[in-house]
Amino acid sequence: MPKLDANPRVPGFSGLLDQYQTVKTDVDRAATRVLESGWYVLGKEVKGFEEEFAAYVEVSYCVGCASGTEAIALALMALDIGPGDEVITVAMTAVPTATGIAMTGATPVFVDIDDNYLMDPEVVLAKIGPRTKAILPVHLYGQTVAMQRLLEVAAKHGVPVIEDACQAHGAQHRGLKAGSMGVMGCFSFYPTKNLGCYGDGGAVTTNNKRLYQKLLMLRNYGQEIRYIHSSNGINSRLDEIQAAFLRVHLKYLDQWNGKRRQVADWYKKYLSGVVGIPVEHADNHHVYHLYVVETDQRDALMDYLTKNNVSCLIHYPIPVHLQKCFAALGYKQGDLPHTEKAARSILSLPMHPWLTHDQASYTCEIIHEFFKGSHGVAL
Ligand SMILES: Cc1ncc(COP(=O)(O)O)c(C=O)c1O
Repeated sequence: MPKLDANPRVPGFSGLLDQYQTVKTDVDRAATRVLESGWYVLGKEVKGFEEEFAAYVEVSYCVGCASGTEAIALALMALDIGPGDEVITVAMTAVPTATGIAMTGATPVFVDIDDNYLMDPEVVLAKIGPRTKAILPVHLYGQTVAMQRLLEVAAKHGVPVIEDACQAHGAQHRGLKAGSMGVMGCFSFYPTKNLGCYGDGGAVTTNNKRLYQKLLMLRNYGQEIRYIHSSNGINSRLDEIQAAFLRVHLKYLDQWNGKRRQVADWYKKYLSGVVGIPVEHADNHHVYHLYVVETDQRDALMDYLTKNNVSCLIHYPIPVHLQKCFAALGYKQGDLPHTEKAARSILSLPMHPWLTHDQASYTCEIIHEFFKGSHGVAL
């Protein structure tokens, strides 16, 4: 029996094995280098990666940590944000955006999104109150929030902006890199991210030396120098071996983002007018962490693609404000109508740098076939 995925036209969702095969020699060498060094935590690989990633993001400093979730928590802790404080963010995101806020004891305040699934600065303006201690926009799917306007709004109220750039390595707004515009930027290096490692990892970027020094302590039990603990930190460190892997992948990031943009162009060409497709705002350089289409026939289309062996996912089916873990905040269905509508109609198609033209067109053919059949009509 041939394997179901033996058809070379059938795409995988995120191409992780292809990625490893591409960089195998360098990654294997990096692993050996670290294993044979006898130094596994906070050493020269982490330092080297932090410098290289800071240069890439075009900021002065980067602090590696254990995950994107903890990058968010650490950034908030660096601003002394905690119980009684509010952090404005979106519910149209991965739950860990809000988990990072909740870890500090602060309260997430969720606002609705614009047409690009992103935080709407005008809605934020109406939500800023006396307890607002930070604004946490999410550069969702690889596209930045309208940061210029958001920063204006925030500055008017003296509220710091921390970017959740976990899905936006290399994305730009008006020529500025994601993670360089707010007071801090938070990144995840979860394997499927545009820049991913082979396990968990994260980082906070900043231009502020005082915050940098505080973050260095906070990620390492608040330790200022060995056995002298100046504040109450956590253990959230990027492993040497993951940093060594990230140094390999970082060299390819722009090339891989370019390939994602090529795949997005193919989808755009074949799917325009068939389903709702992503819109790249003129101010932005989109890096297509995910390629998300929209249709009111979402569930049926997803079934049809799955039956034809095309893996697709929903990012995310339940918005954060309606998740059980945040029930105590008191949100209900109808509070964020744009977010809730999106959650019902979005679908993420296969997207990664190794996707071939043939695979992208196969996916598009299946989508065309679905809409031509008795399954429904396009938007
Ligand atoms: C937007 C966003 N924020 C935060 C996170 C959390 O990152 P991590 O999984 O590394 O903790 C993720 C990752 O899923 C994410 O996509």
